[in-house]
Order: sequence, then C-alpha cells, then structure tokens
Amino acid sequence: NPFGSSASDSSPLSVDAQALQKQIDELSTFSDTPAPSVTRILYTENDVLARRYIKNLMGLAGLSVREDAVGNIFGRWDGYEPELTAVATGSHIDAIPYSGKYDGVVGVLGAIEAINALKRSGFKPKRSLEIILFTSEEPTRFGIGCLGSRLLAGGETLAEALKTMVDGQNISFLEAARSAGYARGEDDLSSVFLKKDSYSAFVELHIEQGPILEDEVSIGIVTNIAAPASIKVDFEGNGGHAGGVLMPDRNDAGLAAAELMLAVENHVMGSGSIDTVGTVGILELHPGAINSIPSKAHLEIDVRDIDEDRRNAVIKKIHNSAKAIAKKRYVTLSEFKIINQDPPAHSEKSIIEATEAASKELKLTRKYMVSRAYHDSLFMARISPMGMIFIPCYKGYSHKPEEYASPKDIENGVKVLALTLAKLSLS
Ligand code: GLV
Ligand code: MN
Ligand code: MN
Ligand code: MN
Repeated sequence: NPFGSSASDSSPLSVDAQALQKQIDELSTFSDTPAPSVTRILYTENDVLARRYIKNLMGLAGLSVREDAVGNIFGRWDGYEPELTAVATGSHIDAIPYSGKYDGVVGVLGAIEAINALKRSGFKPKRSLEIILFTSEEPTRFGIGCLGSRLLAGGETLAEALKTMVDGQNISFLEAARSAGYARGEDDLSSVFLKKDSYSAFVELHIEQGPILEDEVSIGIVTNIAAPASIKVDFEGNGGHAGGVLMPDRNDAGLAAAELMLAVENHVMGSGSIDTVGTVGILELHPGAINSIPSKAHLEIDVRDIDEDRRNAVIKKIHNSAKAIAKKRYVTLSEFKIINQDPPAHSEKSIIEATEAASKELKLTRKYMVSRAYHDSLFMARISPMGMIFIPCYKGYSHKPEEYASPKDIENGVKVLALTLAKLSLS
C-alpha cells in the first residue's frame, strides 16, 4: 500500500481532477482584468473574495482555519500525535497583472484536494498536516516578493519597514491590510513570525514556469531555488521642451535609463553562465508626455542566479554602470536601492526522497531540477526542511494569460503531493 505500514487499511488515492479544474476556473474569475488574463493584487476586493473562496474550501475539507496579522491563512488537519511538529504545504493565490490562473493556485487548491483525497482514502495523519496560503508572493503592490513567507520566516527588517511602507497610490501597508480585515489591533507585525521548529517539513506544489518538463517527464523534483534580487533605480535630469531644447543642451533621464537597460543585459550575459538572468520589467518616464524630455526615469531591475556570489558581482557592475552613465549624461543617480538580495535555498534530502518514492509508487517519470523562479519555499527553507514538486506547463508559459497546465498533469502533481505529505506525516 502507498501509505506505509501504519495505514494498511488505506484504499488507493483518487483525485477529483474535474472538481479541482472547476475550482481553478472559478478562482480565476476573481480578477481585475478580463479572462483569460488574471490580475489579483494584494488586499484588493478580488483578493479578499478569492481568500474567502479558499477559506470556505478549507472548511469544507474539515480543516481548522486561522489567519495571521498579514493574512497568511492556515488550514490544519490534526494528526493522531498532535504534539509532534506538523508537516506543511501551500502556495499563493495573488497574481501579477495580466498573468494566468495556475501560478500558485495549483499549490493551494491542489493541496486542499490532496487532503480531500487522503481523507477519502482513509488515511490518518500522525503528524498534523497544514495548508498555508501565503500573502503576496508577488511583489506587485509593495515591491516585496514573498511578503507573507518572508515575515513567517522571521523577517525583522521587513516587519519594521512595513510600519511605514506605502504602495504606488500612497496607501500605507497597514491601511491596505486593515481594509482587507487584517492587522486590526497592531502596527507591530512580529506576531506573524513562526518559531523555528514549527514544521518538520514544508513542501510546495507549483507549475514549472519553464519548458523542461513538458513532453519529457511528469514530475519535477526541485533540488534548489535560485537566488533572486531586485533593485530600484532613479535618474534625474532637467527635462524641458521637446522642440525648444537642442540636443547638445539636454540631460535626458530617459536615455540614461535606456543605456542602463542595455548595460544590465550586457553584464548578465557576460557573467560566464547561462544561469544568470536579468530583467528590467519596469521603466517609468516622467512626466510621460511625447513633447517633454524625460526629467525622471525610474527602473526596477530583477537579477537572479543559482550562484549568489556571481549574482552579486553582476549587481556591482550594474551599480558601477549606473554611476558612469549618470556622469557621462550629466544626470543625477538619485537612487540605487537594492530592495532585496536573497540567498538561494536547497531542498532537504529526506523530502526529495519522499517525493521520489511517491512518484515511483505512482509510476510517474521524474526529473531533478532547479527552480529559477522564486517561491514561498525559498523563505520557508529558513525555518523548515523544504522541498518542491513541479508539474509541466504548456511551453513553460507563465506570468502571462497563455499559462496552462493540463488536468492530467495537475492530477499527477496532486497525487504526488498527497503521497509525499502522507509519508512525511508518518515519519
Ligand atoms: C515570482 O513569481 C517570481 O518572480 O519568481
Ligand atoms: Mn508568479
Ligand atoms: Mn508562483
Ligand atoms: Mn514565483
């Protein structure tokens, strides 16, 4: 039997792939942009409605639900030895602008279905099993990726910063959180921190967001998560009339930004490794009029690598280029701020082995792989042994509306998750 010796009366796992697909489709309707795109931003009305939808499903699955001060949501199934540390799983349901309906969602709705499948099979957990819905994995609103899990892992600096943080509309974090029903009585968010030994294991199910698994194998077993960093840069010049100011008399902040964008590409490609990636996904010019020379340019740069030192060396080069470009173009580099510069994380051997054994029992082909996207698992790894299960997605598409994972691949992933959780619960 698939559950180990102490659960010999269990019947095989059956995942209701149809019901799960229906839930994925329903959740995608809580969106600020039209289908097939999904946009679900932290603490907005659609985020609150989507959270309510998840809490309801957790309740129907018989889980006891609690929420912390920033809206991380926990659904627990008590084990028969509840004093043992629990095994956790989970992911996020926030969605960046114009993205798809599977990123994160598969790891939350899939986890609830995994629990339902385990219950139907007659399985009884020894260690409690807990599903976590993490607040704001995406950095969209406040510029901080994995906000919820970063705090859970004891992010002191972040807890302090959140007291005064504002979004692009100048709405404070605390005000936004309160509008969604969180952070009621407190400005101090350190209540969110989890103790270091809260979980004996954390395992996250997620779509691959890359092209390796498709057409090759069913399950990806993540060995490590690449180290992300993000940087905000501002250039300032004099601006002026697009007709009146002659070219030699300009100091165009927009051109400085353009040059820096190319420098980012250059430094990243010159790192010596294909594993270094860099993206300038935000470029804002002020005042943003066709007949006005940009007097301010704002860029946000994302740099990642599986090698932390190599990534940091690239960031240094980008900083040097920003200074040199400002000098050459007579603009001011008014900000070069590293928002976060996180180390990579490694999966725990025992969790990799549990997932490996689970996929073998289910006769699913598998592959070890690196996660180049970051995930809440990156931060859970700071307080718990961590592992991740990837499923294939169409052409590796993600962070765009064409994102797609087949019901069969999702079903496989949920089964592997369920079996992995069962094994870890009994260990
Ligand atoms: C989060 O979605 C990331 O950028 O990896
Ligand atoms: Mn994402
Ligand atoms: Mn994600
Ligand atoms: Mn991600």
